Amino acid sequence: MSTTSAILPPCEPYKIKMIESLHRSTREERDRWIREARYNIFNLRSDQVFIDLLTDSGTGAMSDRQWGAIMTGDESYAGSRSFFELKETINDLLGYEHVLPTHQGRAAENVLFSVLVKEGQTVPGNAHFDTTKGHIEFRKAEAIDCTVAAAYDTTVSHPFKGNVDLNKLEAYMREASESVSFILITATCNTAGGQPVSMENIREVRKIADRYNKLLVIDAARFAENAWFIRNREKEFRNHTIRQIVGEMFSYFDAATMSSKKDGIVNIGGFIAMKDKELYRQASLFNIMFEGFLTYGGQAGRDMAALAVGLREATELEYLDSRIGQVNYLGEKLKTYGVPVQEPFGGHAVFIDALRFLPQIPREEYPGQTLVVEIYKEAGIRCAEIGTLMADRDPHTRENRYTALELVRLAIPRRTYTSDHMDYVAAALGNVFQRVSEIRKGYRLTWEAPIMRHFTMELEAISE
Ligand code: F0G
Repeated sequence: MSTTSAILPPCEPYKIKMIESLHRSTREERDRWIREARYNIFNLRSDQVFIDLLTDSGTGAMSDRQWGAIMTGDESYAGSRSFFELKETINDLLGYEHVLPTHQGRAAENVLFSVLVKEGQTVPGNAHFDTTKGHIEFRKAEAIDCTVAAAYDTTVSHPFKGNVDLNKLEAYMREASESVSFILITATCNTAGGQPVSMENIREVRKIADRYNKLLVIDAARFAENAWFIRNREKEFRNHTIRQIVGEMFSYFDAATMSSKKDGIVNIGGFIAMKDKELYRQASLFNIMFEGFLTYGGQAGRDMAALAVGLREATELEYLDSRIGQVNYLGEKLKTYGVPVQEPFGGHAVFIDALRFLPQIPREEYPGQTLVVEIYKEAGIRCAEIGTLMADRDPHTRENRYTALELVRLAIPRRTYTSDHMDYVAAALGNVFQRVSEIRKGYRLTWEAPIMRHFTMELEAISE
């Protein structure tokens, strides 16, 4: 008998207490539904979707401890106990003294940018998320993308594709620092494929911010996932806890905007956290105008209570191992079917390179969106284009901005699907890849909003 025991496979550190039924549909139904939705997957009803990988935002499963906190939430208008639970958790985890709750991440951007961003200014950093860019451009200011070049080549492997290119940033600051409002790092960098930013890079960007006397702000939606990558990929942090890494990360920033719908593992919510009392005072005014009083900011007390628990759960190593492990599992499976994926895989999603998947579809016919529609038709899986449609038009020329990457994102909700679901998704994409030569035409826009058009756009299929 062998005395060596097998290495046990990775395994979710939770079990299922409540289930929600899903129903499959037929190909004919899906063809009709997506046409009726004007080929915009945001227009589909959720019961027309079998596996929903549209976003990891607000779609995660809360724990029994979070549901317990919901029942004991304090709904007082001012001075809610639940607010203080949240504030103390943020003080403890992120090290920031001042906290303003908001109803979600973009609301935090709206409030903070109302203080910081003026017409004609710029906000350099790694790639900005679309709502962030929207809130900057809405104020007639400009978002300057200084992400490392490796981020825009899906064939090269780089451990921190979310990093800021320090030379690019330094050169920009030398040229234009008077116009710079603040520097922003989004970690992980969603637009570049959920890719992490290294601690080393954050430290260097801090030095640049100091040299030019600028604030450094973090878009912290997926801060815990970023910390996991730092632990796994930067030698110095191998023996650190996630919370130690989080503490150090945030120490280099002056303020944070947060969408709690990601690494807060709640269904709605956000906040701004900051070190400086004067900034807090200025932002408070806009928070009261746009969001609500300072101790609820658009959230129910119970939501803040659940968020306080969620932030602690999201910064546990066991949870993050399983979470990012599942994303990795799907990515590896897709590779076995030959699907061109971005590597290394991101923290919250696997990104497919639509230009390599559908080289026959010209950029003007939106290959990313064409693939999104095909994946839905194949198996009822909903995912999102992160490419030209999402990038909006250039505000000056009104031309399409053909992004360096045309990606399709399979975003994995937290603690929601099992590896069986991942197997199903991979097999479905394998089928689409097999019949790829049959896809010969893309789509054209028939209606679009002037900003953030992908949410409401309408398209029609181009016939051969
Ligand atoms: N910042 C980042 C990096 C995000 O990914 C998002 C949202 C926001 C800010 C805005 O937060 O939705 O709470 O208002 N991302 C979602 C997504 C929508 O699907 O990636 P929000």
